[in-house]
Amino acid sequence: MSSQQAERSGANSSANIGVIGTGVMGRGIIQLFAQAGHKVYFYDAADGAVDQATEFVLGMLQRAADKGRISQQLADKNKASLQPCKSIVDLAGCAVVIEAIVENIAVKQKVFAELESVVAPTAILASNTSSLIVAEIAARCKNPERVVGLHFFNPVPLMKVAEVIPAVKTSRNNTDTLKTLVENTGHRAVTAADQPGFLVNHAGRGYYTEALRILEEQVASVAEIDGLMRDAAGFKMGPFELMDLTGLDVSGKVMESIYAQFQHEPRFRPSSLLAPRLAAGLFGRKTGEGWYRYEDNKRVDPEQTKHNTEVASGTVWVDPTANQATEIAELVVKAGAALTDDSENCDLLIVQPWGKDISQVCAERELDASLTVAVDPLPGLDVHRCLMISPITKSKCRDNAVNLFSCDGTAVTVINDSPGFVLQRVLATIVNIASNIAQRGIASVADIEDSVKLGLGYPKGPLAWGDAIGGDNVLQILNNIFEISGDPRYRPSFWLRRRVQLGLSLKAEEARR
Ligand code: NAI
Repeated sequence: MSSQQAERSGANSSANIGVIGTGVMGRGIIQLFAQAGHKVYFYDAADGAVDQATEFVLGMLQRAADKGRISQQLADKNKASLQPCKSIVDLAGCAVVIEAIVENIAVKQKVFAELESVVAPTAILASNTSSLIVAEIAARCKNPERVVGLHFFNPVPLMKVAEVIPAVKTSRNNTDTLKTLVENTGHRAVTAADQPGFLVNHAGRGYYTEALRILEEQVASVAEIDGLMRDAAGFKMGPFELMDLTGLDVSGKVMESIYAQFQHEPRFRPSSLLAPRLAAGLFGRKTGEGWYRYEDNKRVDPEQTKHNTEVASGTVWVDPTANQATEIAELVVKAGAALTDDSENCDLLIVQPWGKDISQVCAERELDASLTVAVDPLPGLDVHRCLMISPITKSKCRDNAVNLFSCDGTAVTVINDSPGFVLQRVLATIVNIASNIAQRGIASVADIEDSVKLGLGYPKGPLAWGDAIGGDNVLQILNNIFEISGDPRYRPSFWLRRRVQLGLSLKAEEARR
């Protein structure tokens, strides 16, 4: 922040911060700014809420001192900076007020109008809304240029990222000032356009919706999809585990609202599997049953499918165009089977398609689908391996392949025919959505990458992930699924297509006009 800007808004590192709404998010925001050395004034309309929040934040600050994360002296100083308020008028001296009240547009608009009459004309008014349009919150304000979205994640002190969302009329100075203020707390502040889901919730759509599509198509079970995303792709939690944790009542609503706000863009289409589960109250952990069942808050895992894996036998043809043809051939030998280059006279055919199902590969290449098994080139053969069978693959061939691919102790999951297996589909969807976020200028490449890692905990930024898979492979996956399914959900973003055509990294920013 330039000193001029700071002077204008008064929002420098010693600025007084106001927080209105002291629930789950408000408390975290109070703690964050108190720990960053600000005096924090906070108010809530509910009886006793301010006292409860004070007690909570004092407790958190003391805990930080007890655990040795900060000195007792600093904890005492931070505690002294808490300013519980009895009325909204007490926020008058704040350079920035952050609203974290109920997610209701009419209530927020009323509170913003009230705040405007209380604070100085230079004060910035920020909203922690997660799903409302920031411009709509600003619409009733006399000074909409001072209204900014500031979206933190729960728990605020631990989730080290916040989205700063300028609405159409927000001034650049106010956006920059707020960004600097947040970065001074140690959080990464990313800028996102005032678009549905802003940045993080927008980028995170693909994980759920593609997993649901895969489930709908009977490709694999809930536990198998979760297992692959966790163990093979490196996500902390599978998509269904995550839905159970958040609660389907919450995550289902977000899916529906983002889809509706994006004018029914097929990339965000939720699933018809949700409505009956919502009606039956299968919300997840909190109701004892969701995608999984819970007893005493512990998940009861379904039994895993067991395949007969006695010995690998007979002759095996490995598609010479397969990405990992050499490694697969080595495994065949290691498992005790024999290699052959005669695809018409063998016991097992192994292929490695990008974005195609076995049926498509066999039809195109005149291979016997009853003898064919596919292995996903992602994430590489040294991790968890995903095998795919055709609708008519013989059980003997399937078991033979399972034995072969697990002969070195590596875990194997078998799925049904699917263009793009599980990983290819989910990862390509995530990369494609992130590419489109970049194409639409909703956020910069650096902000997309950092916010997804910090806000969603993904092991890699989505565009870097695309580069690691190979932009050309991602494009091939999407083009092939699009062609086979006819579903515009899979149409590749211009950002992705152009960077592949020009031989660029997916992280390459657009040249300035
Ligand atoms: P909460 O229900 O825990 O707290 C809301 C607080 O606002 C309550 O204490 C309530 O008494 C108070 N309040 C309601 N109307 C008020 C008014 N007119 N004036 C003053 N205080 C009022 O809600 P939570 O979860 O903290 O959410 C707050 C905001 O943050 C919402 O806009 C929500 O969408 C957003 N958000 C929530 C996240 C979460 O994980 N809970 C994550 C990111 C954003």
